[in-house]
Amino acid sequence: MATKKASPAASNDEVSEAEIAVHWQEEGYYQPSPKFIAQANLTDTDMHKRFSLDNFPECFKEYADLLTWYKYWEKTLDTSNAPFWRWFVGGKINASYNCVDRHLEKHRNKTAIHFISELENEPIQHITYQELYVRVNEVAALLRNFCGLKAGDRVTLHMPMVAELPITMLACARIGVIHSQVFSGFSGKACADRIVDSASDVLITMDGYYRGGAMQDQKEKADIACEDAAAQGHKVKKVLIWQRYPGKNSSPRPMVKGRDFIMNEVLKDYRLTRIDPVEMPAEAPLFLMYTSGTTGKPKGCQHSTGGYLAYAAATSKYFQDIHPEDVYWCMADIGWITGHSYIVYGPLALGASTVVYEGVPTYPDAGRPWRIAEELGVNIFHTSPTAIRALRRTGPDEPQKYNYHFKHMTTVGEPIEPEVWRWYHEVVGKREAAIVDTWWQTETGGFLCSTVPALHPMKPGSAGPALPGIHPVIYDEDGNEIPRGAGKAGNICIRNPWPGIFQTIWGDPDRFVRQYYERYNKKKGSTDWRDWPYFAGDGAVQSEDGYYRILGRIDDVINVAGHRLGTKEIESAALTVTEVAEAAVVPVADEIKGRVPDLYVALKPGVQASRELQERISQAVVTEISPIARPRKVWIVPDMPKTRSGKIMRRVLAAISSNQDAGDVSTLANPEIVDELRKMAKM
Ligand code: PRX
Repeated sequence: MATKKASPAASNDEVSEAEIAVHWQEEGYYQPSPKFIAQANLTDTDMHKRFSLDNFPECFKEYADLLTWYKYWEKTLDTSNAPFWRWFVGGKINASYNCVDRHLEKHRNKTAIHFISELENEPIQHITYQELYVRVNEVAALLRNFCGLKAGDRVTLHMPMVAELPITMLACARIGVIHSQVFSGFSGKACADRIVDSASDVLITMDGYYRGGAMQDQKEKADIACEDAAAQGHKVKKVLIWQRYPGKNSSPRPMVKGRDFIMNEVLKDYRLTRIDPVEMPAEAPLFLMYTSGTTGKPKGCQHSTGGYLAYAAATSKYFQDIHPEDVYWCMADIGWITGHSYIVYGPLALGASTVVYEGVPTYPDAGRPWRIAEELGVNIFHTSPTAIRALRRTGPDEPQKYNYHFKHMTTVGEPIEPEVWRWYHEVVGKREAAIVDTWWQTETGGFLCSTVPALHPMKPGSAGPALPGIHPVIYDEDGNEIPRGAGKAGNICIRNPWPGIFQTIWGDPDRFVRQYYERYNKKKGSTDWRDWPYFAGDGAVQSEDGYYRILGRIDDVINVAGHRLGTKEIESAALTVTEVAEAAVVPVADEIKGRVPDLYVALKPGVQASRELQERISQAVVTEISPIARPRKVWIVPDMPKTRSGKIMRRVLAAISSNQDAGDVSTLANPEIVDELRKMAKM
């Protein structure tokens, strides 16, 4: 594989992922098979034309028409309070109705959710649409009558990958309650911050779940979350705890009287209760999804009901090629946006069968995903480059041992190396599957760039052209457009709004404007969408064929195994250790995870470095955030490389960690430190 270094997308003195990304050359094309094309949902070559800017925004009516509306909208897009876009204004809709009730007539007895325990000897649960309907109604009744929740209230979920998670989300949606699911692997403290920010009175969790063959104590995290939230001045009134095995406690933690309730116990009072779906305005928030950004504080991306669901459903239909008869498995976690859009809302809105798998892909061995695929007849598979790299390393020949056939596969979340792409295509996909490399973000609700699987050839390592109705532009630092095919990296933006775009940052509209729209805004106060390109925060290049290659983040975000982490979040976790004076995090390339964080710390005067302290700092990151943020190494350094104005030069640290040339360091306030750190890194 030929590699070359990407040109820097950002010119400030902070290192960005894009700056250190090592990238590959343009690859040759692969064609989708005639068999795939013959059955594909989208073969209409006019689609992109129909979604041209001339037809904007009315073109998106086609997406919204995939849903069932109580009341049709009056205005497709309201830009009067730009850049706070309002889609399908005046429309009334319910997401739970669209994902459940409307399928009963035709698909009552069809599996909606296949739940697979990590323990292979446990039977698979096949939950039909009828059963989903019954369970969603009962949970909605409990939330309304037992918890007193009503439309617009927020509820934090800290649930693992179990069928009860989509059931709980859909129950919230049924009564207009805004759910905020926090990735189960996040710590209790991280959960607390999100509870406080969203002002959730209710926390819903599960006592435990399996990961890597071991039962994890999730209830403990709920206790920590409530304690920490209380310390921040927010009292959680009720904690609802699903039992992993109904009737049995999988956590040794005691129940807190008056606060903790066993979900499946309380549900008995709501047996067969029906709750009419609440007719929600299209622009009512459906959920919050917290993600990392440039500051330490995670931001709650607020997604709408009508616009989001229309976009999730349409992109699932056309780019995931989901038909109601397909068995679709997205191996992401519902705690991330991929799981929301492409495990829960998209596939269920289309009436497909969606797979929820509890555990790690390589448990108990690297053949597990392929056994699941064979057993369930999965024909659409969706995962991340990190998972593909791990499966390739641990079981390169496993897929061929199993009799499954994928017609379609997705990769998402990080750039995929062409070599890894080829293994995915040849070995996992058995050269039969059409592959889409989908680029998008928590904020965008659904895909932005991808090939249309039956129309465009695939190009390894390239996300492909923009989706219909998405009109990207790559700007340089000064706001000049980089011409198509220039092969020059810049900041990728989207010229126009689309229905899946998030509405705001919960509780922080100023930050929303500042972070996503201010940079390339053409006219302050304008109500014309043309003046407000969406700034994605990624570096990208467009080749002559119009395909985009995404180089990585240009802000202080590290993409670790497809998980988005803020360097500032990790740094502030390190600073909770009292001996630490300064902390700086930089990304380092990792064969499996893509990127991992390296943590540099300088200690307060008089404090001695020790292994114990290194371990304590590392543990602080795990406690404050999650094991996924654990630094590869904690370097205790005598001093940080700094500019004369005292700013830490992360670019230099990143070069040291990656054993690369640090460039000109003569302008540093303390250039001599660079050699000292290099020697330390080599030891
Ligand atoms: O840097 C891009 C990278 O993941 C970031 C978004 O992360 P998150 O909000 O957690 O959403 C992940 C699931 C969509 C982006 O800013 N990214 C996402 N997809 C790709 C990608 N990088 C390269 N290729 C992709 N297909």
